[in-house]
Amino acid sequence: MEDDNLTRDRSACNSCNYSDATYWNKRYMDDLSTFDWYQCYAGLSPLIRRFIPLSSRVLMVGCGNAAVSEDMVKDGYQNIINIDISPIVIEAMQKKYCDVPQLEYMTMDVLDMSSFGDCSFDAVIDKGTLDSIMCGMAAPCNAEIMLSEISRFCFLKFYSRQCQLIEACCFWF
Ligand SMILES: C[S@@+](CC[C@H](N)C(=O)[O-])C[C@H]1O[C@@H](n2cnc3c(N)ncnc32)[C@H](O)[C@@H]1O
Repeated sequence: MEDDNLTRDRSACNSCNYSDATYWNKRYMDDLSTFDWYQCYAGLSPLIRRFIPLSSRVLMVGCGNAAVSEDMVKDGYQNIINIDISPIVIEAMQKKYCDVPQLEYMTMDVLDMSSFGDCSFDAVIDKGTLDSIMCGMAAPCNAEIMLSEISRFCFLKFYSRQCQLIEACCFWF
């Protein structure tokens, strides 16, 4: 019998692809059904509600086709801008939420968010995007760019909140 490990095409499930926009476009072209990586809003809401007031301007980076932003709106959040590098998923989300004014969707690379000025947001949420960036070739450098962009948006709150979050996450896990 042939060894399945030798014949299987591993390129399709290589996690290195996670940092590649082409990979995500293909994935979303194949399947646009709602999917939340790691945790749904129900699991995260104690942390989100504790650290992010309902009136906050929120940026959701690498939103994908997750339901977390929709669920945040149902919970009372008023202003969530969602970005993703894949125009396929952004177009689909724009259509899906065209009648939800609290949600805006934009195609954007998290490594170049120059369209947003300093202090544009009160909170930035990332669920799975830094992980994707960390799969790429220039991972440490790109992770630093992403985090420095994010700190530009809410830098005054960034470091104190980081400490509170680490404390909360330690408790949570
Ligand atoms: C693991 S998925 C997480 C999706 C969603 N946040 C969730 O929790 O289900 C990673 C997402 O990051 C997006 N992404 C990857 N690299 C990106 C980049 N450089 N800029 C913006 N989005 C990116 C992908 O298109 C994908 O939607």
